[in-house]
Amino acid sequence: MMNMVRFLLMIGEIFMLFSCKTGIEARSPLSGDADDMHKIIYYATLAGSSHNTQPWKVEVRGDREIRLFADTARVLNVVDPTKRELYISLGAFIENLDLAAGSLGYKTDIELTPTAESTNCVAVVTLKRAHSSGFDLRLISARRTLRLPFHTADIRAEEVKKIVTDDSQTGFYATSTPQGRFIAEQTLSAYRQQAQNRAAQAEFARWVRFSDRDIRLRQDGITTAGMEINGIKGFVVRNFFKPADAEKSKFVQAGIQTTEKQVRNCGGWLVLTGVDNSMQSWLDAGRRYQRMNIACTALRIGFHPMNQLVEEENYKQVMHEKLRLKNEILFVARIGYMIEMPAPVSPRRSVDSVAVFYR
Ligand SMILES: Cc1cc2nc3c(=O)[nH]c(=O)nc-3n(C[C@H](O)[C@H](O)[C@H](O)COP(=O)(O)O)c2cc1C
Repeated sequence: MMNMVRFLLMIGEIFMLFSCKTGIEARSPLSGDADDMHKIIYYATLAGSSHNTQPWKVEVRGDREIRLFADTARVLNVVDPTKRELYISLGAFIENLDLAAGSLGYKTDIELTPTAESTNCVAVVTLKRAHSSGFDLRLISARRTLRLPFHTADIRAEEVKKIVTDDSQTGFYATSTPQGRFIAEQTLSAYRQQAQNRAAQAEFARWVRFSDRDIRLRQDGITTAGMEINGIKGFVVRNFFKPADAEKSKFVQAGIQTTEKQVRNCGGWLVLTGVDNSMQSWLDAGRRYQRMNIACTALRIGFHPMNQLVEEENYKQVMHEKLRLKNEILFVARIGYMIEMPAPVSPRRSVDSVAVFYR
């Protein structure tokens, strides 16, 4: 009888282990015979985006021109009504595109198109053959958002310098400073406020991908692996929860508890500002965010955007006053030395589903 129970438990464990394997496989791989343009777009699509909406569309003309468009059907109308985060995400895409093109031996000329509101065309990138920049593309593949607790040790000064290369528009506040503690406290409070907002809950539920089927079908959104809901909990959520369950009080409360741990367990906060709230400033902040996330990856420092205090207008005002910011606050992330460094897990749509190639 005991042996039978043990056997059933073992089968259960093996089954769960296999079911836990969502994530990196959810990313459509780069095909072996991909040409340079496919490769460049592939690496660009590995950029982060709010709620993993991947709000990009691309047209590739020959092997010399790439046009980037905003996919405004993917805007988060509740938490991002001005489209700030949509354009930050597109800025991150541009940064990856530029780094990948440089690594593959192209020099880029990036023209931002101010008519984006009417045509949705955000940028025209022209490529010219050049020497490789030597940038290691594996850093783009390894970059990720990490929602686990980090070590609370201060980030070493020489490493902060490598992450924040231009301090005119980016501030770093160590956890041990009054400002660092203030940002942590305000982030949690803003998260709580947003978590109680029914419209924000419903919007989040629309981008939640609990089941493996949904991940395979949509290849976007926030998954259980991305939320660090793993093991038995992950198994239960993936197999028995519906997206609407993300709006239930139990799930919302669990999110608040996780956020409490996150804000208390990091080495510091990056606050990205811009001269104004224009599309150009947002794209620029997006490029900076991506560069910093990649720099952190190279240093084995975890990176977790936490933007509720920018999204919730009343908190944004308080932040401006308390941190004496002269410019517009656009993006916030907590960083810290990683306790573990897991591989990326968030899905991506394939190159062919976001890009059209004209020969
Ligand atoms: C503009 C912007 C805002 C974001 N805000 C948050 C946030 O408030 N909380 C969070 O956990 N992740 C946030 N993220 C991270 C995204 O959810 C993440 O990039 C996306 O799910 C893809 O995952 P990856 O970065 O691991 O590739 C944000 C990302 C961007 C670009």
